[in-house]
Parts: sequence; structure tokens; C-alpha cells
Amino acid sequence: MYRGRIVPCRNQDSGSEFCKKVFFQAKGYKSFVVTPLSYKGETLARSICGSPIFNIFGVLLVDESCSMIYYRPLEEHDFMAFVELRKEAFLNEPESFGSDYATYTATPLIDKEHFFEKVLNYPFSFVLGAFAEDNTMIGIAGFTCHTATKRRHKGILWGMYVKPAFRLQGIARKLAEIIMLSAKEDAQCEQILITVSPPGSVAHQFYDRLGFIQYGVEYRALKLDDEYVDEVLMMRVL
Ligand SMILES: CC(C)(COP(=O)(O)OP(=O)(O)OC[C@H]1O[C@@H](n2cnc3c(N)ncnc32)[C@H](O)[C@@H]1OP(=O)(O)O)[C@@H](O)C(=O)NCCC(=O)NCCS
Repeated sequence: MYRGRIVPCRNQDSGSEFCKKVFFQAKGYKSFVVTPLSYKGETLARSICGSPIFNIFGVLLVDESCSMIYYRPLEEHDFMAFVELRKEAFLNEPESFGSDYATYTATPLIDKEHFFEKVLNYPFSFVLGAFAEDNTMIGIAGFTCHTATKRRHKGILWGMYVKPAFRLQGIARKLAEIIMLSAKEDAQCEQILITVSPPGSVAHQFYDRLGFIQYGVEYRALKLDDEYVDEVLMMRVL
């Protein structure tokens, strides 16, 4: 089972402040890396572990026993892999998502690209990806923080999907945990919301296990052909 922690790098951290933070927290971990957007801490990260450098937002410290699945926010070059995984999700799990496969497939690529570009605004909006050793994208989860003054303490977790062959290995838990940490520390969010369907589904049980509480049900929220599906509204204080 994978265990580890992220040391996030904030834009205001100087390289040396960030290095200190990592060095202090790295004890007992084998480090696996992540460079921040500005590459602060890269030298230190290399010296700790000599691991590959990923162009993202902090340093990920992991135990010796970890699998080689790694997590990072998606970047522009991940667009096509993201589209393919979304298509797979909508096709395989029609009851779990508000979007449907037929409409998504028919949507022009340029519109999908606009949507994708709009969500690439770390830490306020991003898609976190889980990648296998061969760099295949095997899981995704989106995060979007509200922007209005009275709502910006809240963030939304959306679009969680893990490829069937990689389920029950803690990947979705890790995606959610990284997002919650980043939402709290980097986006100053105080609570996170999720909409899950149908009630009693694996996803419902999954968020229950993660400590989300149910605050409502929207009856007949989705209509698939002639069948209605209810959506469960869940939240967790960070
Ligand atoms: C829901 C989903 C994301 C879970 O992914 P996963 O990587 O298999 O989940 P994890 O291995 O991280 O499991 C985390 C927890 O959820 C529980 N869980 C996961 N799948 C479960 C299942 N089939 N039955 C019961 N519990 C389950 C695990 O027991 C685990 O609990 P623990 O960590 O306390 O032991 C995945 O099944 C999926 O992609 N489903 C289809 C899409 C979907 O429903 N997305 C949600 C949209 S809101």
C-alpha cells in the first residue's frame, strides 16, 4: 500500500525556504519528487533521492514500500490522455457522471480544449492525475474552488475516475487526499463538496470511507433514458 506525503511549495516561498521545509519533513521518507512551478527546491530534491523530476508543485515524500504510481496535476500536454480517460469514464459508468458519452464524444475537440485550459489554474482549479510507471494516465480527479467572496471557503471535487484494472489499490484515496491537502494549504479552502450517484454505489461508499458526510439527496437528479438516478450531496470540512 502506498503511503506518503506532499510538501507543497507556495509561490511566495523562496527556494531556500522551500528546501528547509522539505529537509525538515523528509526524515524517515525516501523522497520522490516534484518540482514546484518555478523549479524551486530542485537541487535539494535531486540530492535527497536522485529521483526523476516532475514539473509540478511540491515534493512528494514516499515510503520505501510505495508502488511506483505517481501523482501530479495535469498540464497542457496531457490533454488527449485526459479526453480519452473521460470518454472511458462516461462510457463505463453512465450513472456516476452528469456528462454523457454520446454528447462528450460529439463535442468538438476545440471546446474540450477550452474547458481543459480553463481548469488548469493550480491551486484554485486543476485536475490531478495518477500515472503508472510507463506514464499511462490511470486515474484523474478534478478540483475547483469557488471564487465569489462568500463562497470561496468551498471547493468542489469532481470527475474522479480510476481505470478498472487499478482499482482497490488506494489510488482514488490518494488522489482525494492530495487534493484535500492542496485545497486547504494552497487554496485556503475550508471544506470540500462532492456529488455522488447513485446512492449506495461504490463511489458513495468510497467517500463515506474518506470521512465525507451526507447533507442531502437530490431525487431524480439525472435521467438516463427512462430511468431516474438520485444524487447524494456530501461534504467534508478540511
Ligand atoms: C470510486 C472509485 C474512484 C474508487 O477508486 P479506487 O482507486 O478503487 O478506490 P481506493 O482503492 O482508493 O479505495 C479507497 C476506499 O474506498 C473503498 N472502496 C473502494 N472501492 C470499493 C468497493 N468496490 N466496495 C467497497 N468499498 C470500496 C476502499 O475499501 C477503500 O477504503 P479504505 O482505504 O478505508 O480501505 C472507482 O471505483 C471508480 O473510478 N469508479 C467509477 C467512477 C466513479 O464512480 N467516480 C466517482 C464519481 S463522483
